[in-house]
Amino acid sequence: MKSLAIIGSQWGDEGKGKITDLLGLKCDVVVRYQGGNNAGHTIIVGEKKIVLHLIPSGILHDHCTSVIGHGVVFDPEAFGVELQTVKDSGINVTPERLKISGNASVITYYNRLLDGQREAKGPIKIGTTGKGIGPAYEDKISRKGIKLKDLLNYETLLTKLQANLIEKESLFKNLYECDYPTAEEEAKRLFELGKSVAPFICDTFSFLDECKIKNKKFLFEGAQGVLLDIDYGSYPFVTSSNTSVGGVYTGAGLPGGSVEEVLGITKAYTTRVGEGPFPTELFDTVGEEIQTKGGEFGATTGRKRRCGWLDLPLLKYTVKASNLTSIALTKLDILSGMNELKVCTSYKYEGKEINCSYPGIDLSQVEPVLTDMKPFNDDFKGEQSQELKDYISLIEKEIGVPVGIIAFGPERSEITFLKNYFN
Ligand code: GDP
Ligand code: IMO
Ligand code: MG
Repeated sequence: MKSLAIIGSQWGDEGKGKITDLLGLKCDVVVRYQGGNNAGHTIIVGEKKIVLHLIPSGILHDHCTSVIGHGVVFDPEAFGVELQTVKDSGINVTPERLKISGNASVITYYNRLLDGQREAKGPIKIGTTGKGIGPAYEDKISRKGIKLKDLLNYETLLTKLQANLIEKESLFKNLYECDYPTAEEEAKRLFELGKSVAPFICDTFSFLDECKIKNKKFLFEGAQGVLLDIDYGSYPFVTSSNTSVGGVYTGAGLPGGSVEEVLGITKAYTTRVGEGPFPTELFDTVGEEIQTKGGEFGATTGRKRRCGWLDLPLLKYTVKASNLTSIALTKLDILSGMNELKVCTSYKYEGKEINCSYPGIDLSQVEPVLTDMKPFNDDFKGEQSQELKDYISLIEKEIGVPVGIIAFGPERSEITFLKNYFN
């Protein structure tokens, strides 16, 4: 197998960083293709904890080339900070090891400002990460965006920023009544930042094409999760990119190729950060126990993650929506030793019982039907208990694809591969 996509199958934070890191050992190129520094992918190496937001998780392996594709929204200021953190943790980052598409869309100061103002004063609060993701994608789609390569020429950059600011100026002045920098000030800031990104800018399309010709092994590192997808997710409480497998084709630049396997990273329970419906959310002490035991705080914003039981109707939907061929079940250790264990197997919706979520269904109106499972209490050292086996087999039976990986701790060693990836 030569290409595998890692996709979050829930609302993000399923443990994609850990799995990308481990599978990165077996492949040549790791590509981020959507989202931006709204992501927070945690990797634990011995005593060290590394949280990557923008730089692909392959950067930890010397033999891997990390690529940021044109579908990513790129904040050059945040990149500078992250690059320094990565270098400080002893990782060698050179233009040979990290390649960034000149066509990636830049997150400007105006984008971040607009994100913050909307969240603070707008009519709908999404609970964004405040990183300017939505406004940057809006600029891209409206064809007023700044591309990374624009940072290399001051005159071009200034002209584009002036055009970009015309409409926003009116919003900042009249609607939000906030201060904002002039186009000249923003051009100077971005032009300076562009100098440190310049060595990494590359025609990533041609680079990936060459890798394909050389038969290299690809890993596509998805950010967020399918339920946050702009088209497949719980709109409007979503992010602004295609987080499902479709995003690989448009955002990575995968010349004439295809993704051979799609691995859905799935937390053994469900979490969500930010606003939006969450059918299995727990508001009691059990929810608190999972939140505390699981250390469920956002890796990017530090917000508490909402917690609930595993939602199989939603998981069945994401298997279909993203063509998942297997899943990695993470954080099983958090459920181990709990006094109760439930799983949502269907919903009551508009007077009927349905067992798969589908587009158009109003998730805020469903009532989860919970099945009681026998709690498991495993240390994951020896053979699996019957209760754990039952939990895993129920999931496999319901979703129709195998559990290829189980993870039972944040460390690299706390994992079992039940299936071979990149043989
Ligand atoms: P990502 O955004 O999908 O990469 O996930 P995050 O890094 O935001 O959140 C996952 C958290 O769970 C991180 O703190 C990981 O170190 C941790 N983690 C990953 N897998 C496991 C696991 O199997 N068990 C436990 N206890 N922690 C895990
Ligand atoms: P990783 O890759 C979890 C959520 C935000 C908010 C919504 C929109 O670490 O799994 P945005 O800033 O993207 O406009 O926010 O999406 N969100 C995430 N939740 N994990 C993430 O990334 C997320 N990235 C965005 O909390 O609800
Ligand atoms: Mg995360």
